[in-house]
Amino acid sequence: MSRRILLKTEVESLPRHVAIIMDGNGRWAKLHGHPRIYGHQKGVERAREATEFALEVGIEVLSLYAFSTENWARPQEEVEFLMKLLEEYLAAETPVMVEKGIRFNPIGRISQLPPSTQRMVLEAVKATDNNQGFTLNLALNYGGHAEIVDACKKMCYEVQRGALTPQEIEEVTLEGYLYTKGQPPLDLLIRTSGELRISNFLLWQVAYAELYFTPVLWPDFDRVEFYKALLDYQKRERRFGGVRD
Ligand code: IPE
Ligand code: IPE
Ligand code: MG
Repeated sequence: MSRRILLKTEVESLPRHVAIIMDGNGRWAKLHGHPRIYGHQKGVERAREATEFALEVGIEVLSLYAFSTENWARPQEEVEFLMKLLEEYLAAETPVMVEKGIRFNPIGRISQLPPSTQRMVLEAVKATDNNQGFTLNLALNYGGHAEIVDACKKMCYEVQRGALTPQEIEEVTLEGYLYTKGQPPLDLLIRTSGELRISNFLLWQVAYAELYFTPVLWPDFDRVEFYKALLDYQKRERRFGGVRD
């Protein structure tokens, strides 16, 4: 199911930026009689598949929520397993991303990740730095509140050193300090597993995104499910506060 077989109208109304809250790994594992970590392993495979699909159909930016600032509250063994899984993913995927032209852009407080994880994250950023056309925002230790606080802090430092005045600050100014700086606006936010909440993901960017909630658990979210979400998005009427003529 590549871009070639999407209808022309479908291509024209494709979302430029899609975000996914990949939820339901634990419940999926339980349902199949496995420990939670097995669900996370399956989840990584689906993250790969979703990235490939987004690239093929011509989406410009895909933001995947992998670990939130709140996820530190999980049992230590689960957190450690998730970090190990992330390192394995980066080791395997960095060369693939280089080859496929994917720009890897981690979003979140990366400096608070374990040192070995940080190193691999930064290596992946460096290796894919010249890639253009498709960006993967991987949310690691990401929180929407933290992102806005960090952006405000950076702006305050700019004011302090005289590079910016408070009068000059507009919405676009703040946007320039977010992790998504320079990227197209978020068009579509998908959440799997039936939960109807945002869980602190891309709070600024979600302002006018279309929301798509599905009961499908993340390890079952395949290309067909992703395609269904895109078709649903294309039926929406986006008004941005205006009226349709
Ligand atoms: C999402 O699946 C993965 C992460 C948050 C890392 P969960 O682990 O939250 O799965 P459920 O919600 O417990 O089923
Ligand atoms: C959101 O899922 C975070 C990620 C998918 C990484 P959670 O499972 O952590 O969210 P809550 O706790 O149900 O809101
Ligand atoms: Mg969950």
